[in-house]
Amino acid sequence: MPKEREQWGSRFGFIMAAAGSAVGLGNIWRFPYITGKFGGAAFVMVYLAVVVVIGISVMLAEFAIGRNAQSDAVGSFRKLGGGLWPLVGWMGFFCGFVILSYYAVIAGWTLAYMFKSFGSLMQSAAAGKAGDVFGAFVSDPVQSIAYHIAVMAIVAGIVYKGISGGIEKCCKVLMPALFVILLVLIVRSVTLPGAGAGLEFYLKPDFSKLTGEAVLAAVGQGFFSLSLGMGCMITYGSYLGKSDYLPTTAATVVFLDTSVAILAGFVIFPAVFAFGIEPGAGPGLTFVTLPAVFAKMPFGMVFSFGFFLLLFIAALTSAISLLEVVVTYAIDQLKWSRTKAAIVMGTAIALLGIPSALSVGGHIPQIAGKDFLDAADFITNNIIMPLGGIFISVFVGWVWADGAKAEVTDNGKMVFPMYTVWLWICRVVAPVCIAIIFITGLKW
Ligand code: PHE
Repeated sequence: MPKEREQWGSRFGFIMAAAGSAVGLGNIWRFPYITGKFGGAAFVMVYLAVVVVIGISVMLAEFAIGRNAQSDAVGSFRKLGGGLWPLVGWMGFFCGFVILSYYAVIAGWTLAYMFKSFGSLMQSAAAGKAGDVFGAFVSDPVQSIAYHIAVMAIVAGIVYKGISGGIEKCCKVLMPALFVILLVLIVRSVTLPGAGAGLEFYLKPDFSKLTGEAVLAAVGQGFFSLSLGMGCMITYGSYLGKSDYLPTTAATVVFLDTSVAILAGFVIFPAVFAFGIEPGAGPGLTFVTLPAVFAKMPFGMVFSFGFFLLLFIAALTSAISLLEVVVTYAIDQLKWSRTKAAIVMGTAIALLGIPSALSVGGHIPQIAGKDFLDAADFITNNIIMPLGGIFISVFVGWVWADGAKAEVTDNGKMVFPMYTVWLWICRVVAPVCIAIIFITGLKW
C-alpha cells in the first residue's frame, strides 16, 4: 500500500507557510525601492490592482492544480494535462533549484550581518566605511561560502522534518515573529525626528512617474513576490486537504505578502531620510546604507540586529519553499525518502550556489557581462517564471477549466461566485499581461 501523503496540520499553519514563501527578500529590499522610484502611493495603487486581479487568480490556479493532483509540479501536470504539460513542472523544478542556489547566498549575508551588528559594523559604518565592510565580506570566499552552506544546512534540516513537523512548525513561529519585529522597527523609524521627509518620498503620489515601465515593474514584482509561476504554490497546495476554501486562502496569502511589502517601506525610508542619507537600491541599500543609518541611532546595534533578523527570517521561509519544490519532486517521482531527498538535493543546490557566492567578489569570470548570481537571477526571474505563469494560467483557463471549477468548489459543495471572472483572468488577462512583461524584460 502506498504511504499516505503528508498534510498540513491546520489552515493557519498552511497560510503561514505559504505567506512565508511569499514574504522574502523581494518584499523588504525590492518593493520599497521600486515604489519610491515609480511614484510612491500612485505605484502602490497599481501594484494593489495587479496583485488583486492577477496575483490572487494565479495563486488560486496553482493551489487548485496541486490539491487536485496531490503531486509535485511535474507529476501534477503529467496527471492533469499529459502531453508536453509536464515541461511546465520541469521549469518549476529548474527554478527551485537555481533560485535557491543564489537566494541562499544572499540569505547567508543576512545571517552574517546579524552577528556583525554586534561586532565592529556599527563603528565602521559610523566612520562611513559600511561599503568597505560589505566589499570585504562578499569578496572573502571563505566567509561567503561558509554562510551560504550554513543557510543550506538549516533549510535542508527543516525540510527534512517534513510538512507539518518541519515547515509548518517553523513558519507558525517565524512569521508572527517577523510581524512583531517589523512593527517594532516601524515605530522606531517613524518616530525619528525628520522621518516625515522619508514618508513623503515613499508615499507622495506622483502620477507623472506612473509610466508603462512602472506598470510592468508592478507585474514583475508581484509575480516574484508571490512565489508564482514556478510550482511553489502547486507543491504547497498538494499537501492540502479538501476542506479548505481556496479563494479566501489565496486572498489571505496575497494580503499578508502585500502588507509586509508596504510596511517594509515604513522602516526604510523614514530612517534613511531622518539622517539625510541618499536612498540607494538593492543590496547597496540593505547592506551599506542601512548600517550607516543604524550607526546613528541610539542602541543602533540592537535595531541593526533586529533588521537583519527580519531579513533572515523572510529569506529562510522562502528558501524552505524553494527546496520543497525540488524535494517533493524527488519524493513523488523518484520515490526517494524525504531524508534522502533533503540531503541529496540540499547538497546539490549548495554546490551550485558556490559559483554565485564567488561571483560577487569577482573570483570567477562573468558570463556575457553578468556575474553568475545575476545571470542565474535573470534566467529564472525574467525568463522562466513569467513563461511558467503564462502556461499555468492558460492551462487552468483553457485546458482544465472544468476540473479547476470542481476542485475549487469541492465538486459543487461550495459556492464560488467569482468563477467566471477568475476564468477569464486566467484565459486572457493574466497571460497577456505576463506576456508583455516577458517580452520587455528580455533585455539581458
Ligand atoms: N517570494 C520570494 C521573495 O519575495 C521569492 C520566491 C520566489 C520564493 C519564488 C519562492 C519561489 O523573496
